[in-house]
Amino acid sequence: MKIQFTETVLRDAQQSLIATRMPYEEFEPILKTLDSAGYYSLECWGGATFDSCLRYLNEDPWERLRKIKKACPNTKLQMLLRGQNLLGYKHYPDDVVRMFVRKSVENGIDIIRIFDALNDFRNIKTAVDETLKCGAIASGTLCYTTSPVHTLDSFVKSAKELENMGVQTICVKDMAGIMSPKEAYELIKAIKESVSLPVILHTHSTTGLGFMTLLKAVEAGADVIDTAISSFSGGTAQPATETMNYVLKQYGYETGLDEKKLIEINTFFKAYRDKCLKSGLLNPVVMATATDALNYQIPGGMLSNLVAQLTAQNKLDKLDEVLAETPRVRKDLGYPPLVTPMSQMVGVQATANVLFGKYKNISKEVKSYIKGEYGKAPGKIDDELMKKVLGDEKPFTGRFADTLAPMFEKTKKELGDKAKSDEDVLSYIAFPALAEKFFDERELRKSRTFTYSFKEIKEG
Ligand code: CO
Repeated sequence: MKIQFTETVLRDAQQSLIATRMPYEEFEPILKTLDSAGYYSLECWGGATFDSCLRYLNEDPWERLRKIKKACPNTKLQMLLRGQNLLGYKHYPDDVVRMFVRKSVENGIDIIRIFDALNDFRNIKTAVDETLKCGAIASGTLCYTTSPVHTLDSFVKSAKELENMGVQTICVKDMAGIMSPKEAYELIKAIKESVSLPVILHTHSTTGLGFMTLLKAVEAGADVIDTAISSFSGGTAQPATETMNYVLKQYGYETGLDEKKLIEINTFFKAYRDKCLKSGLLNPVVMATATDALNYQIPGGMLSNLVAQLTAQNKLDKLDEVLAETPRVRKDLGYPPLVTPMSQMVGVQATANVLFGKYKNISKEVKSYIKGEYGKAPGKIDDELMKKVLGDEKPFTGRFADTLAPMFEKTKKELGDKAKSDEDVLSYIAFPALAEKFFDERELRKSRTFTYSFKEIKEG
């Protein structure tokens, strides 16, 4: 029996624990060891890493990827991609999606895990198609959630749909850490019985279910699990790599992991974790178990957002009402999975309903969701709410990206000299203000280096 591991310390684990603030220089010394530890893949790019590189770390995300690739030639590098939204929150036209995928693969990515917040696969098909064309591995993703319309049958049907799209693996993504061991066992078993692809489980330790959930998923036939090296595991991050390796080996699984290397990796990150604790970048609370998500059926991150929102308006006494309103709003919207951007939309709307009256204020985003611009809702959107937003208008039922004009070449022309490469153009399209600031600072750095060296020559 074989089970493989994806190590998340370079992406999801550090995103979940320290808001993706780990600079390249911090983890560079351990890359060679990570490359030789026997992982199925290293998740190291996509998600918030791109944004964080430009916004906080003054790093070129593409250059980071190339450097990781150079140091890790033997292990597959993996990224997370939000389908037609790429790494942002809005839909991009197909030419941009294709170029982004192509450049990701060219710069070093081997596996692209592609998801859509609503599991509307029209929003991932372009990214999947281009990934396959580039010869990389497309991992089709099911966002896990619980609701009356999300059943074993509906998930199996979606898994088959992904298989028919030509993806090479299927990932079940439990972004909120709410999947129980029982649910994992039943779901993974059902998917394995109906599709012939490797199945991967991604979960978080937030609610304390993680280890049990992964173990039952492996018993049900999961082929790959996502874990984080122990010093960056637990809480809002993934269950620990070493612990799962220990348990699964006792059960007779071949994991392929080199335990000596794992110790080395953990010792390395433990020192960095201590540094993060000292500076306050790592708040110990996020490493603890929080069962609120089980009580309220909303992800932990969303709960802390609601608390922050209400605190800012001096209305924290309304928290219980907002928590009761949240599932009602979710039902009215047809049970979207509570993942970005839907978790924010549902949370803001529930708060508005409590503070200003039921649907007195409807956000722009919720309106476009109801109009069908984000994709198809999993369930039925409440009739009255539909009428309120749409009036006599018909909802949009097409694929939103089909309404968008190509923009890569046009943007490239507009940027002119500012962009030094197609990668720069993509950074700009994804985060215009951040990229522009980054380009300017890069120029400044260059001219400074030039002045210094010129001076040296003169004086020397
Ligand atoms: Co995650």
